[in-house]
Amino acid sequence: MTLPKKRLFPLFLLSLFALFLYSYYHSSLHLFSSHSFNSNPTTLFPASLNHLRNSTLVSPNFSFTIKVLAFDRINSLSRCLHSLANADYGDDRVNLHVFIDHFKEIDSGERSADLDKKLDESHRMLNFVDGFSWKFGEKLLHYRTGNVGLQAQWLEAWWPCSDDEFVFVVEDDLEVSPLYYKFLKGIIVNYYYNSSNFSPSIYGASLQRPRFVAGKHGNKLQLDNGTRLFLYQLVGTWGQLLFPKPWKEFRLWYDEHKAKSIKPVLQGMVTTGWYKKMGERIWTPWFIKFIQSRAYFNIYTNFLNERALSVSHRDAGVNYGKTAGPDSYLIEGSSSDLNLLEMQPLSILKWYDFCFREVLPGRVVTNFDELRHVLHTVQKQKSIILVGLFRTPQTIIRNLLCHFERLDIQNYILVGPESEFLHDLARRGNPVISAQKLLNDIRGHKVMDFQGSDAELISEVLVKAYVVKRCLDSSYNSWVINGDMVPLKSDLFSDANEQLYDFSAGRDSDILFVKGSSTASGIWIDDFIYKVAEMANSLRGGGFPSKSHLHFEGIAAKSLEEHGVRIKRLDEMSFAMKVETGNTNQTVAEDRKRIIFWSSEMDLDNIQKRLEDLGMWIVDGDSSCTAVVCHQS
Ligand SMILES: *[C@@H]1O[C@H](CO)[C@@H](O)[C@H](O)[C@H]1NC(C)=O
Ligand SMILES: *[C@@H]1O[C@H](CO)[C@@H](O)[C@H](O)[C@H]1NC(C)=O
Ligand SMILES: *[C@@H]1O[C@H](CO)[C@@H](O)[C@H](O)[C@H]1NC(C)=O
Ligand SMILES: *[C@@H]1O[C@H](CO)[C@@H](O)[C@H](O)[C@H]1NC(C)=O
Repeated sequence: MTLPKKRLFPLFLLSLFALFLYSYYHSSLHLFSSHSFNSNPTTLFPASLNHLRNSTLVSPNFSFTIKVLAFDRINSLSRCLHSLANADYGDDRVNLHVFIDHFKEIDSGERSADLDKKLDESHRMLNFVDGFSWKFGEKLLHYRTGNVGLQAQWLEAWWPCSDDEFVFVVEDDLEVSPLYYKFLKGIIVNYYYNSSNFSPSIYGASLQRPRFVAGKHGNKLQLDNGTRLFLYQLVGTWGQLLFPKPWKEFRLWYDEHKAKSIKPVLQGMVTTGWYKKMGERIWTPWFIKFIQSRAYFNIYTNFLNERALSVSHRDAGVNYGKTAGPDSYLIEGSSSDLNLLEMQPLSILKWYDFCFREVLPGRVVTNFDELRHVLHTVQKQKSIILVGLFRTPQTIIRNLLCHFERLDIQNYILVGPESEFLHDLARRGNPVISAQKLLNDIRGHKVMDFQGSDAELISEVLVKAYVVKRCLDSSYNSWVINGDMVPLKSDLFSDANEQLYDFSAGRDSDILFVKGSSTASGIWIDDFIYKVAEMANSLRGGGFPSKSHLHFEGIAAKSLEEHGVRIKRLDEMSFAMKVETGNTNQTVAEDRKRIIFWSSEMDLDNIQKRLEDLGMWIVDGDSSCTAVVCHQS
């Protein structure tokens, strides 16, 4: 993460862009009689920004295919295909694949008149597509032999054969803007092929106007007028560009879940209600559950005044009982106040989850400047929860994070060794500290002295001690915990602070509290940190009752006591519940309990079983949360 630098870079780009626009505009004035650009779409864009004709910006293997999903609405299909044929494709080759679903079986004995009518309709559809001229690339018609419904229509429309294949899916009641392709090509050039703007989290782009917040009962989505492009997890089915890799990953995921009868149920989402009603007739609940488990995002536009590059006429059919009319205003080729190809750097775009809460991906703290900044942004009432990832199984951490989401606990930061897991947590929007990298930032430190010892333990001890010190520098309270617990209350560690000493530690649990006081700050100095590390080093051979106590929280408490510092020992009986292997008859009835914890020696299976019994195991087989929980923002 390079917070301060990144902020400057886009500004520079923007000003460069503005300068460019300015000079372009002025040099073009003689071409146009009025201040608005001409209605010819190709003149909307400055030539040198015209990525369309610059084939070096994409792979030579780049291919683009439109997949039109149709059923029995010939007028809709005609409007849709004509709008597609009217778009500007530059010199690009663009394929058109039309999938026509078959009508549902009807009892032929009693309703032969109906049947003839259906057959006639279908044949008119086929004739229409046959006669439709498509001069931009291959035209293909796939006519089903039986009714498969929307789910199979979508899913079977595409299996990506390479990472350079792109697909734009449109249902037949859509109409697209003549500018839609130029825009999508710009998206592909900028956010797929340009490595400095690429993110593995992005699965495509939706051209529909973003409308609702799926995690908040489908509430209307609110955006500020300054946002042009943004990222949002929800899929948009009215004109969706799909990137090959995530789509292939989805097909495999779907296959596995479907085969194992694992339903795409994601509590808290309005789409789960649709699934319960519509079942396998729709496909979006499957995709949405997949997206949630991977924490992927979709690019959306915000063109203001309810305008979009793709609109749905919401004709009567599977999704609508009766025609509802267009959902937005279609952007025509002559729209002069938009600069559609303005593809802002990814670093300045905002990311939103299913609750439409802003997500901040990629916060990996590697030095002390970044640490100060991140601590400042995550602290709540001057308190920080520092969660160690050392030695804790990944699913336990994921379960803990689901509890943080459930309880709206946001003032945490994760610290762990460099790993794919650590970076994945950061990609998903959790603030993380890379232990080794942060320690490398301690210039002239004695870290080297401990080489050859238990490097991971020493680095755990040192990094946590330094983060606590950084919290003290800003007068923040710090709660240092391992993953061996789940919170039961959102005010977990807040209101108790006043009654605590400068230092408090669990009797039985691995919890350390350091108050953001000047007394604590005076004790927790570099020399003390070094002593804690030394103790960790010497204790490896023994001296602690069990190996499970060989961790930062215990060692720090012991060091403090040896230092003559008074520590308040927290009595777990009063605020916590301990789960144990043998004890299967526990409930969380008591209101006073704030956490559930267990011994770090307990194995994963037993922890999971006990937490399941208590209803506190809230991750699924994909290690993702079983629910989306939105809070007031
Ligand atoms: C394009 O595809 C061919 C055949 O699959 C492959 O050999 C080649 O490496 C690809 N080129 C690029 C630039 O990806
Ligand atoms: C956003 O723009 C719309 C249309 O131009 C306008 O009606 C609205 O007041 C604007 N909202 C804000 C917050 O500026
Ligand atoms: C790639 O993106 C960066 C950052 O937005 C930009 O500076 C650069 O010009 C882009 N490269 C190309 C070839 O467009
Ligand atoms: C489990 O709890 C129930 C109700 O609290 C109690 O009646 C029962 O005796 C307990 N069983 C065991 C094995 O402790």
